[in-house]
Amino acid sequence: MNEENRVMGIDIGGTGVKAALVDTRSGEMTSERVRLPTPQPSTPAAVMVAVKELQRQLGWQGPAGCGFPGLVKSGSVQRAPNLDPSWIGYDLAGRLQAELEAPRVAIGNDADAAGLAEFRFGAGKGVAGTVMVITLGTGIGSAVFRDGVLLPDTELGHVEMRGKVAEKYAAASVRTSKGLNWKKWGRRLNDYLVHVEYLLGVDLFIVGGGVSKKPEKFFPYLKDVGCRVEAARLGNAAGIIGAAMFPER
Ligand code: BGC
Repeated sequence: MNEENRVMGIDIGGTGVKAALVDTRSGEMTSERVRLPTPQPSTPAAVMVAVKELQRQLGWQGPAGCGFPGLVKSGSVQRAPNLDPSWIGYDLAGRLQAELEAPRVAIGNDADAAGLAEFRFGAGKGVAGTVMVITLGTGIGSAVFRDGVLLPDTELGHVEMRGKVAEKYAAASVRTSKGLNWKKWGRRLNDYLVHVEYLLGVDLFIVGGGVSKKPEKFFPYLKDVGCRVEAARLGNAAGIIGAAMFPER
């Protein structure tokens, strides 16, 4: 493996902060995956401490890529629905580079990261048409591809459904917080996918996040979706792998 292709991928989430070293050519993790719970309150300073600790555990001094659960533009956080409000306006790219003493840092949306990884190395490989990768976790993230080209920063977990923001209706966290069984939650996810398929004319949904490890629990209820639905192949690692692949922008 060429050292030049090694990047530390960081996945900041509403529940956990995860990282690993990634060979960006092969899409493989070349270290163990390390994780810390997202600090509460999830302020930028507290999350940065966690990220630095993960870097220490990995013994890494080099380039890094970071997926963030919200909208980042020109390196700064614009929206972060599932983190502390003090993130708004935070210079994430600049602070990360300084804290990690990294030669280069690239950042982007966490679902875009997962989407890039699934597209290059997983269930989206070589698929033409409109492909939407959704990540189901604390919220719902979306990454939309047309013939392999990503339309960045879509926020389709925020479409309205039954008078609610969709992610409050069908995210994986809703299944646990509301104590829904797999059937009830699976039907909610079915409704969500039907709605989005109608809006975008999706050809393939790739369902990611931790739940993608157990597709047998809920795929039987995704009956009405008028297109193919597949489980993400890289599971929860997609967010880390894709973060390491972010181009600098
Ligand atoms: C955010 C998205 C993010 C998703 C998954 C949503 O609440 O708006 O930007 O991708 O959660 O973390």
